[in-house]
Amino acid sequence: MCGIVGYTGPQSAVTPLIEGLRRLEYRGYDSAGIALGTPNTLFVEKRAGKLANLEEALGSASPEVHSGIGHTRWATHGGPTDRNAHPHLDNEGKLAVIHNGIIENYSQLKVELESKGHTFESDTDTESVAHLLSDLRKKHHGDLSAAMREAVQSLRGSFTLLAVHADDPETIVGVRRNSPLVVGLGVGENFMASDVAAFIQYTKRAVELGQDEVVTITPSSISITDLYGAEVAPREYEITWDAAAAQKGGFTHFMLKEIFEQPKAVADTLIGRLSDNNQILLDELHMNPDEIRALKKIVVIACGTAYHAGMIAKYAIEKWAKISVEVEIASEYRYRDPIVDSSTLVIAISQSGETMDTLMALRHAKASGARVLAVCNTNSSTIPRESDAVLYTHAGPEIAVASTKALLTQIIAVYLIGMHLAQVRGELSDQEVAHLYSQALELPGKIESILETVEPIRELTRKFAKSETVLFLGRNIGYPVALEGALKLKELAYMHAEGFAGGELKHGPIALIDSEIGTPVIAILPAGHEHGLDEKMLSNIQEVKARGARVIVIAEEGAMVVGAEHVIRIPIAPPIFQPILATVPLQVFAYEMAVARGNDVDQPRNLAKSVTVE
Ligand code: M6R
Repeated sequence: MCGIVGYTGPQSAVTPLIEGLRRLEYRGYDSAGIALGTPNTLFVEKRAGKLANLEEALGSASPEVHSGIGHTRWATHGGPTDRNAHPHLDNEGKLAVIHNGIIENYSQLKVELESKGHTFESDTDTESVAHLLSDLRKKHHGDLSAAMREAVQSLRGSFTLLAVHADDPETIVGVRRNSPLVVGLGVGENFMASDVAAFIQYTKRAVELGQDEVVTITPSSISITDLYGAEVAPREYEITWDAAAAQKGGFTHFMLKEIFEQPKAVADTLIGRLSDNNQILLDELHMNPDEIRALKKIVVIACGTAYHAGMIAKYAIEKWAKISVEVEIASEYRYRDPIVDSSTLVIAISQSGETMDTLMALRHAKASGARVLAVCNTNSSTIPRESDAVLYTHAGPEIAVASTKALLTQIIAVYLIGMHLAQVRGELSDQEVAHLYSQALELPGKIESILETVEPIRELTRKFAKSETVLFLGRNIGYPVALEGALKLKELAYMHAEGFAGGELKHGPIALIDSEIGTPVIAILPAGHEHGLDEKMLSNIQEVKARGARVIVIAEEGAMVVGAEHVIRIPIAPPIFQPILATVPLQVFAYEMAVARGNDVDQPRNLAKSVTVE
């Protein structure tokens, strides 16, 4: 939610700022703006709409100055207009602020500031910070860092803020609370951004910032303090991926590139996890065998696609480790009175590690006495930092708003957790674990083979591109796959799509089938014959077909399918691993549908990649 970048150094600032915003546009794209540190005054340009509108407005007119801040917005307070675009200024036009998050007490601040003579130009919560900082900077004799420290003490909510003042344009001051901010350390230049992607082409040295830390950068220095001015030693780390990972690399969209990166992402997350004596290696869990044996319950908290990974975790962990697993939508969990204690392990799944709903649920769980394990794709982000332990997935940077490779790696991570817990608790023998692991190692090659044959899915999409509703059916571990297929289609194709458990169909949803339009139904046929679930799904297919549905079936090679207009084949795998394979054609289907309908694939309307507000 909103991307933030700051630069100070020898380059003409507009270049790293616009480059940075381009890489952060996934975080929001309702408007974009920059403030350049021209002496005595500031040069500000901001425009509603995508970054391209700002670039057009800038043309070649931007001044050649060497510091500035830039913002790409996902609107919360105030519509997506030029006026509400960031940066926001004080009344003298000398101090500029950009913000990611929400200032919860902004209306109260606004009343106080207006009573002191400040006039407001926008409908945003952010502008109150510009006016507040302006007053406090005067109080602190021009010290913007001191002003920021005092300002933050009176702010409520979640925020990353960057500020610059025309009287000292080389200095940029930032702060974070429950919202991301990293510093990039260059040679004779420094950066700040919501995500390292913004400056990865200039430096791989980064510094993480803790809660309520205020950071001040100039071209040659960085200083970090707490809110009371005490120095904090910079925690430096090296960024392990390179700039190319954040480029499209010849693909038309990031999403397509990320779909095709899945075999590698799955392999990278999986490989090296079995010892020579057939033990699953998961030291990251930081749990000794006694603690694992004492576990009574697991609760998974997550949102959106990550929640679907959590649902799959339930099937795998309950089957293998025989521990009861509850899966909770993070935003709902937080406002309940969950029954957890030290024998509960809470697993927080998040690609970004910054999702506010998940973070708040995590804090709620910790406060209730649970141990928290994060499954995360983003190093040093807030969710892993606040967890007791973290298992990183190795999907690499995921730029497209629609999650693809992150999901598959999250599923792999929960499989590993399930195998490890089962092995330590004696529910699976070493041989059984080794066998499962070797079957999992075949998954990357199987995904590869699905991706080699996506052309029929393209043709299929053309046929169904004008439909307004698509229903997805799954059973057992195929149910979360159906939910994920529907989520992807909603998010990308802006179509009404719903996923159902096959058995629930007759309890209401079957009324949605319209014989006049031939409602498309995509059914995931369960792998194998366990519990006769494949036959039950075949019956569901007959039931919808009898009512006029046009049925597409995802089925493993060789499985008998009756009643389908189209069959998409996937390789044979143990039923528990089927989600890794069955999800892939659904991603391609949603992608192609979005393209066919002329939608913006990587930046679907109204969304943002990292949802840092509740
Ligand atoms: O970064 P997270 O994994 O915590 O994000 C959770 C959801 O916001 C995310 O999965 C969202 O549902 C995706 N855009 C779906 O493709």
